[in-house]
Amino acid sequence: MKHIVVLSGAGVSAESGLKTFRDADGLWEGHNVMDVATPEGFAKNPELVLTFYNERRKQLLNAKPNSAHYDLAALEKQYKVTIITQNVDDLHERAGSTNVLHLHGELLKARSVDNHEILPWDTDIKLGDLCAKGHQIRPHIVWFGEAVPMIDPAIDVCKTADILIIVGTSMQVYPAAGLKDYVPDGTPIFYIDPNPAKIYDKHINTIKEKASTGMKTVIKALSSQ
Ligand code: OAD
Repeated sequence: MKHIVVLSGAGVSAESGLKTFRDADGLWEGHNVMDVATPEGFAKNPELVLTFYNERRKQLLNAKPNSAHYDLAALEKQYKVTIITQNVDDLHERAGSTNVLHLHGELLKARSVDNHEILPWDTDIKLGDLCAKGHQIRPHIVWFGEAVPMIDPAIDVCKTADILIIVGTSMQVYPAAGLKDYVPDGTPIFYIDPNPAKIYDKHINTIKEKASTGMKTVIKALSSQ
């Protein structure tokens, strides 16, 4: 089976009603990133940060996968598929994808500020919620300035790609955006985004559409390969 590697970002979940970060009206429009997505922000005002992610978690629990998530999951019938997602939602998994690597953490998990034991978590995190060792619980999110522990496994996955699909990401955040450089030379790349970043690669096929319709275009292109 050919190996399709997918690099997904917030845009794949936009049609499920979850806001992206950098579009007009995106999450970073109303918030200072340094306040809500850095360890320094958490140290300064933990309540603000917990509230921000508690909101995101509540929205996620009311959201459903859209057809792009389902189409990506259905690719597993014919291909080996690995999804590397920058998203902290679980919509790929809920649509049926079985091999999902989360680069930036997961909203439905938490950990303590002091150790890396990851706990399932689907309710609000409050100040005073402590792990067994007595340390404050925080969202399992990779904040700016923190290491990205899953980047090395993600690089290894990219090295084995036969086809790369990039969907719904502004390709502005590293190291995630650099992953496309690890696919073998000549790997066909499909990039679905209504407002795509400029990527210079002669093997890239940019599909200027939303994730839902863009995935149909990719599926058609794959079937004629
Ligand atoms: P961005 O908000 O930077 O980019 C979202 C992309 O989705 C943009 O290029 C949009 O054009 C595109 N888009 C919007 N609607 C779409 C739709 N219906 N279908 C397809 N694409 C659509 O989000 P990311 O690139 O995912 O990290 O951001 C990367 C990281 O920056 C996030 O994981 C997050 C953020 O800071 C952390 O919080 C650690």
